[in-house]
Amino acid sequence: MQILIQNGTVVRSTGRKKADVLVRDGRIAKIAPRIDEAADRVIDAEGCFVFAGFIDTHTHFDLDTGVTVTADNFETGSKAAIVGGTTTVLDFATQDHGMTMHDALNVWHRKAEKSSCNYGFHMAVSEWNDARKAEVDDMFRAGISSFKMYMVYDTMKVNDGQIYDAQKFIGSRGGIIGVHCENYDVLQARILEEKAKGHLDPTAHPVSRPQAVEAEGVARLMRIAELSGYPAWVVHLSTADGLDEVRAARKRGVKVYAETCPQYFTLDVSRYADPDGAKFVMSPPLREARDRAAILNGMRKRDIDFIGTDHCSFTMAQKAIGKDDFSKIPNGGAGVQNRAELVYTYAVRTGAITLEQMALLLSERAARLFGMFPKKGVIRVGADADLVIFDPNARHTISYKTNLHACDNSPYEGMEALGKTRDVILNGELVVENGELTKPYCGTYVFRRPCAWYRK
Ligand code: URP
Ligand code: ZN
Ligand code: ZN
Repeated sequence: MQILIQNGTVVRSTGRKKADVLVRDGRIAKIAPRIDEAADRVIDAEGCFVFAGFIDTHTHFDLDTGVTVTADNFETGSKAAIVGGTTTVLDFATQDHGMTMHDALNVWHRKAEKSSCNYGFHMAVSEWNDARKAEVDDMFRAGISSFKMYMVYDTMKVNDGQIYDAQKFIGSRGGIIGVHCENYDVLQARILEEKAKGHLDPTAHPVSRPQAVEAEGVARLMRIAELSGYPAWVVHLSTADGLDEVRAARKRGVKVYAETCPQYFTLDVSRYADPDGAKFVMSPPLREARDRAAILNGMRKRDIDFIGTDHCSFTMAQKAIGKDDFSKIPNGGAGVQNRAELVYTYAVRTGAITLEQMALLLSERAARLFGMFPKKGVIRVGADADLVIFDPNARHTISYKTNLHACDNSPYEGMEALGKTRDVILNGELVVENGELTKPYCGTYVFRRPCAWYRK
């Protein structure tokens, strides 16, 4: 199978140039100003950007919270991902209490059988003890070099000593742990305060988890990493104060990788007062203008490493579980389809970052840290042919009605996007044409090597 992409502008982190790209047998075979070879398919990318396939570092497909299960499973979530230009998702396989990591991995492999995009797994661990430690080497042998721990959620939280010990144990093997950073005890106390005031609707959610709740968690993780001597990864960073903690830790020599999500530079905390405010209930919550500006600034200054979505979708009926108590609203929102167009519209076109930084934030750095580079994350001869043809003039309005995710809401409903993914090549095959998913279920498992800790 040979595909020729002509007349596009190839965008890499190092620059952009007009070039043709030839794809053969699943790999990039040639990049040149003009390629005239015969091909099974010729795609005219005139006026479009050609990017390395985007990597979403943070999705929760088919996640059982213990109360309810996400609206999207792999089948629906991956369809939304691929039409949005995400060729690889890194989903959180979750080791619930009483389960082994091996169990969780098997379960997640089964869940992902009908994936339309490539997928790898981070292993989210709810317990850290000798039995779990004994499984870690097998996880590396199975292609998993990244893990996750939570400072919050009753069913998932671990303590600081466990994070410290896991950082040393996993870090010494070349792995990294993403940590959900919030101060659990304080936010629980604040939830009780809000409820005591009769404040039960979604506007109480951000009040219970203000910026300092995240910043304290980030600061604590930074000190834990300083003590363990191994790198740390802050997931879904949402605040100016949290970013300050990351910068301060780096000055002390801590290797920190920071991830943010589009909701933290596009959406305002005032949305909790909307009639459908429950759909914005996610943790951390939406923030204020100062935080959005800081997150964009962090993206520009390369202090933020990559952008995931934290796609964790629930229908409005599921969100209504917490209609009389905001703290019972299932946490999370849908975003996996819209990440690239949101970054393009609200970060590139506003001048906050360059197109080259978009390539870095959506693909290259994730590929590097998570052991996929240089097969993925870059357009170069020999790399996997996961490619996105992005039309910067395809203005449209985002809506759950046109998104492929299986959820009757979107936090981005009604927002304008200035560009859109037009075509996607996955593993060397054209799977999305003119925005339509023409070849579903072509996703394959991405076996990952240990992390490349590129921060010195
Ligand atoms: O609200 C969120 N983010 N839900 C998904 C789980 C998590 O915290 O990442
Ligand atoms: Zn989290
Ligand atoms: Zn998450």
